Amino acid sequence: MIKTFADLEQKATQCSACLDQKFKGADGKRHILICGGTGCLSSNANEIKAEFERLIAEMGLGDKVDFNQVGCFGMCSQGPFVKIYPEETLYRMLKVEDVKEILESDIKGGKIVERLLYVDPVTQEKIAKQDDIPFYKKQVHIALHAVGSIDPENFDEALAAGAFKGLARALKMDRKEVIDEILNSGLRGRGGGGFPTGRKWLFAYQQPDGEKYVVCNGDEGDPGAFMDEAILEGNPLAVIEGMMIAGYAIGAQNGYFYVRAEYPVAVARLQNAIKQAEKAGLIGDNILGSNFSFRVNLRLGAGAFVCGEETALLNSIQGQRGMPRPRPPFPAVKGLWDSPSIVNNVETLACVPYILREGWQEFAKYGTEKSKGTKVFALAGKVNNVGLVEVPMGTTLRELIYEIGGGIPNGKEFKAIQTGGPSGGCLTQKDLDTPIDYDNLIAKGSMMGSGGAIVMDEDNCMVDVAKFYMDFICDESCGKCSPCRIGTKRMLEMLTKITDGKATMEDLDALQELAATVKSNSLCGLGQTAPNPILSTLKAFREEYDAHILEKRCPAHVCKNLMKYEIDKEKCIGCGLCERQCPVSAISKTDYTAPGKKLPARAIDSEKCIKCGLCMASCKFGAISKK
Ligand SMILES: Cc1cc2nc3c(=O)[nH]c(=O)nc-3n(C[C@H](O)[C@H](O)[C@H](O)COP(=O)(O)O)c2cc1C
Ligand code: SF4
Ligand code: SF4
Ligand code: SF4
Ligand code: FES
Repeated sequence: MIKTFADLEQKATQCSACLDQKFKGADGKRHILICGGTGCLSSNANEIKAEFERLIAEMGLGDKVDFNQVGCFGMCSQGPFVKIYPEETLYRMLKVEDVKEILESDIKGGKIVERLLYVDPVTQEKIAKQDDIPFYKKQVHIALHAVGSIDPENFDEALAAGAFKGLARALKMDRKEVIDEILNSGLRGRGGGGFPTGRKWLFAYQQPDGEKYVVCNGDEGDPGAFMDEAILEGNPLAVIEGMMIAGYAIGAQNGYFYVRAEYPVAVARLQNAIKQAEKAGLIGDNILGSNFSFRVNLRLGAGAFVCGEETALLNSIQGQRGMPRPRPPFPAVKGLWDSPSIVNNVETLACVPYILREGWQEFAKYGTEKSKGTKVFALAGKVNNVGLVEVPMGTTLRELIYEIGGGIPNGKEFKAIQTGGPSGGCLTQKDLDTPIDYDNLIAKGSMMGSGGAIVMDEDNCMVDVAKFYMDFICDESCGKCSPCRIGTKRMLEMLTKITDGKATMEDLDALQELAATVKSNSLCGLGQTAPNPILSTLKAFREEYDAHILEKRCPAHVCKNLMKYEIDKEKCIGCGLCERQCPVSAISKTDYTAPGKKLPARAIDSEKCIKCGLCMASCKFGAISKK
């Protein structure tokens, strides 16, 4: 049990000396870390782990290595990863068959397995150390502190990484001083809105004493986003500690995590962390000998996007339908069971222990004038390095996409980046040198959102992109208010009409008018922001909408009703591979009974073709293209 500040300090010192020894190899062992984030687990990381354990025992290497599973390494598209200390050699895209070679060559023979190293997509250079990979160079890990380096199920490793030091400092301060620390840090909510966290806490603090709650929003419904999942999987105690500091500051004794059930790994690790902290006496009564008592509860969400909206989330925790309610009253005044409550995002709470541990100045030294600290992005789409990145606010989109993301694959042209998910908008070539912060992104017609960042290249149709988001929103609208329930459906129909080549310019005018109506009349943020992808693509790529409507043409050849596949007779050697792939026999057959003769070029019957693209993907001679 850790009952006093002195106990915590003593235990943390012990644990950090032990972990430090492991990383430096001072215990005479090599320290192997395997990524145990969901991305790598879905690419057999558990099987690879089992193979390591089996072979380490079989090869008698138990006294030479120490083996740990940790959270996400960030560059998920290159997983599964293994990192070996003290050299910090990073192996990527591992398969079960590679384990033996790593143990024999690297662990036993001290020779790096070159073929498993990361290859820079720009220079084609092989890079052995994680820190030398450009993807990691510009990153600063505050919310992702210790994610990918500690075993999230090992309480001692979390203590070694500083867990509960922030809470210990907070408990020695006056509650209002803690709020001032957060106000001074400039921390703003990472869940999307960017509301100053300290101000939110102050509102709840100012409410009369009595039952109050801290709620952690781990719903994370944006398509492509997994920042919160990775934090909860990689260092759950940091978020628990952030929640407890918030609880102390506002005068709450109970906290609720709301995490979507589709995150089973995050949920299991969070449950484990809560249990371990309870066992250690760090959750419960009179924490560290103070007057502060706190309990942590967990509720699972069923995966509805709208349940991430704070009032819908509160309803859901209370066992009611996850539908938003009008604000005011805001949760800080009337929240969970009508008591003052603060709702904070996972990433927001993960920043809090750092601020208290290191002091607000250490956080505020990063960022821009009005957006301090760092932001985690889930970088996805048409970019070489897909994954999770945490960068100081003020980093430019160019740095994010080209230096960290490694640029656009296959020599294609960058077209746009969608930030803010379905509530956000797209930013284009001319915005590449914009420093990323809350206000700049809004000024450019998008928003920070929770950190989804999807890169698009010349092959993306921007009308189709707007349709994709509207389709998502339409499914996720809770139906409580008619502007959103009916308006999103009608907007989707209009977009479909455009991508089908059946729309007129009058339809486009009606779409814009409806977008404005839905924006200003919907009850919650879901409906209020639903038209954003349409409005921003219309602003930046108006010519694409015009081409679909006036010329019945999709410039990117994406919209199925406005494109066709064609075979170039000059390039086609008649091999027939495409014909065998075609599921609807739309490609002309060849008579193979005349050996010696050059096989004739194939042709596609557009009437039969269902535009699945399988033929184009199979042709080795680049003879098939979209027109
Ligand atoms: C439709 C909708 C979905 C949302 N989803 C999330 C979410 O998944 N996670 C989150 O933290 N905030 C989400 N929010 C924002 C929350 O309502 C709330 O502002 C946030 O949790 C506050 O935490 P923060 O101040 O730390 O950002 C969503 C908002 C809307 C309108
Ligand atoms: S705006 Fe949409 S999601 Fe929000 S309450 Fe209305 S119908 Fe429900
Ligand atoms: S796969 Fe390519 S080269 Fe072969 S028949 Fe089809 S189009 Fe011609
Ligand atoms: S696109 Fe699909 S359906 Fe059309 S010809 Fe090629 S394989 Fe057949
Ligand atoms: S899950 Fe392994 S690198 Fe992200």
